Amino acid sequence: MSEIVAARTPSYSRIELAAVTSRAQANLLGNIHGGEIVKLADSAAGVVAQRHSGGPAVTAALDEMAFLEPVRVGDIVRTYAQVNWVGSSSMEIGVRIETQPWDAATELRHVGSAYFVFVAIDGAGAARSVPALEPETDGDRRRMREAEIRRAHRLARRREIDAGRIS
Ligand SMILES: CC(C)(COP(=O)(O)OP(=O)(O)OC[C@H]1O[C@@H](n2cnc3c(N)ncnc32)[C@H](O)[C@@H]1OP(=O)(O)O)[C@@H](O)C(=O)NCCC(=O)NCCS
Repeated sequence: MSEIVAARTPSYSRIELAAVTSRAQANLLGNIHGGEIVKLADSAAGVVAQRHSGGPAVTAALDEMAFLEPVRVGDIVRTYAQVNWVGSSSMEIGVRIETQPWDAATELRHVGSAYFVFVAIDGAGAARSVPALEPETDGDRRRMREAEIRRAHRLARRREIDAGRIS
């Protein structure tokens, strides 16, 4: 792995990404297909991962995605993405998804949240070191604690599944 650079704050790489949904993205019920929302969230998370790590990064896992309300055709979908936690080469990126009708300035609706794990890679596709994360706010520190819980559960689940396959 390459040399680690100085720690970066979540605000260094935090972004907002918005798009207007169209009929072509609708499912049979006439709402926006969940996969379209995941794609937008993944794109936002990818930008954050590459900014934080200062180079290419790939999606390793979608840890959790909660859909709270349907997204309608013509909604403006806004995503807010930031680094919650970093390991040696992996990063958890949290994405909050909100919508608003395109033709009315009504309040934003929180329609979903997603947690992606990205891994920074070098030119050969191998994992490379990422800068440490320096949380600045109480919110940043809460997100870091919660990301550690998700990681601990993910590793414990993998260990349990692997043990069951060996025995
Ligand atoms: C992600 C990838 C680079 C990891 O490679 P690898 O050789 O398994 O890497 P390692 O075992 O050395 O693990 C590197 C890091 O990735 C993390 N990681 C690997 N697989 C993971 C998974 N499925 N979920 C979460 N984290 C994962 C490890 O925990 C480790 O984190 P750390 O360095 O912060 O401790 C590799 O699996 C890959 O290229 N996958 C395809 C990615 C891709 O194409 N994504 C687009 C989807 S279409």
